[in-house]
Amino acid sequence: MEPKLVLALFLLISATATSEYTRPPTRKTLDFSRPSKSSSHPQQVHISLAGDKHMRVSWVTDDKSAASMVEYGTSPGRYSNIALGESTWYSYLFYSSGKIHHTVIGPLEDNTVYYYRCGGGGPEYKLKTPPAQFPVTFAVAGDLGQTGWTQSTLDHIEQCKYDVHLLPGDLSYADYMQHLWDTFGELVEPLASARPWMVTQGNHERESIPFLKDGFESYNSRWKMPFEESGSSSNLYYSFEVAGAHIIMLGSYTDYYEYSDQYNWLEADLAKVDRNKTPWLLVLFHVPWYNSNEAHQNEGDKMMEAMEPLLYAASVDIVLAGHVHAYERTERVNNGKLDPCGAVHITIGDGGNREGLARKYKNPQPAWSVFREASFGHGELKLANSTHAYWSWHRNDDDEPVRSDQVWITSLVNSECVAEKKHGMRKILMGP
Ligand SMILES: [Fe+2]
Repeated sequence: MEPKLVLALFLLISATATSEYTRPPTRKTLDFSRPSKSSSHPQQVHISLAGDKHMRVSWVTDDKSAASMVEYGTSPGRYSNIALGESTWYSYLFYSSGKIHHTVIGPLEDNTVYYYRCGGGGPEYKLKTPPAQFPVTFAVAGDLGQTGWTQSTLDHIEQCKYDVHLLPGDLSYADYMQHLWDTFGELVEPLASARPWMVTQGNHERESIPFLKDGFESYNSRWKMPFEESGSSSNLYYSFEVAGAHIIMLGSYTDYYEYSDQYNWLEADLAKVDRNKTPWLLVLFHVPWYNSNEAHQNEGDKMMEAMEPLLYAASVDIVLAGHVHAYERTERVNNGKLDPCGAVHITIGDGGNREGLARKYKNPQPAWSVFREASFGHGELKLANSTHAYWSWHRNDDDEPVRSDQVWITSLVNSECVAEKKHGMRKILMGP
């Protein structure tokens, strides 16, 4: 049979399978009745990349005098290194957080398992550092929340061999109820203490109260990301590099207009990207720019208008967003039109939160939209080498992860786009 015919048949079968899929209902918020532990017991342990060969370990203790100390080494129970860090806490109306510890460890070997414990006692945790070279795999899931579907998504992510988790906003769905930040931290600890979780914020992290509370206080206190390490003045936008990828995390809810702090930082960060060292250029933020779901239509337009020219000039390969509780993947696109030098945009706000799915789509499907489906699930992005990446989206089909969308993506690194746009980028950076 002709290969094209086989492909056409495969696509037809896939499309039929998608349309016949019956989605199970939204699941309840999980119940977290925890056995009480000592006040110095580390809770909500999670790790994040913190500059070259370093990792930040974050955790919470009820005991305000507990030390922000991490002991670590490459053999279980034998800790040849000790690092001391910093701590913070916050109050929010009648809630007072525990002591939130952030301790940077390293330098660490690449692609190596480390054993560690927090505060000089308690249980031993195990992490693996990412590789220095390809291949590297990212797990991607946004809008997680803490329902039975969140658990299902996390279980599926745990089954995949990944190096770093990327989260394009909306973590706990605490929505002002601060104890839900604590239960979310406990829910994700088994995964987030073992692989770095790199997150950016969504609307559910904002939690501002006029005249009383600025936004993102809980998020910034608990999920400290490497903004200082990447020359940013705000935890709401930063970048990091891992195994041949430069990854930029932007804030959809902080100023993005031309010459705002975030805009200026983004422009400077893009100018520093060396595609020989990091052939892949990825960007994450919460509100999608290309979205054919009826939910949250046009919410990302203003940010897109301000920042898409910068991303285009820098030949960004892939943009990952959340917010819409469904999955959608585009062709390479720019300024609303198909463009071989634009980015592939993926909306993956279907981690499993309590608000349920966004099931209504606009018709006809725009030319740039390749695949769209309202189901819970997660994505996996494997950067195989400097030019080829394999993206797959795994639907939570009852409790089995079913690979429902998949595509090879070729990076723009060796394309004419990069060569042509170098001049344009310089023009943007240096003025006319
Ligand atoms: Fe959102």
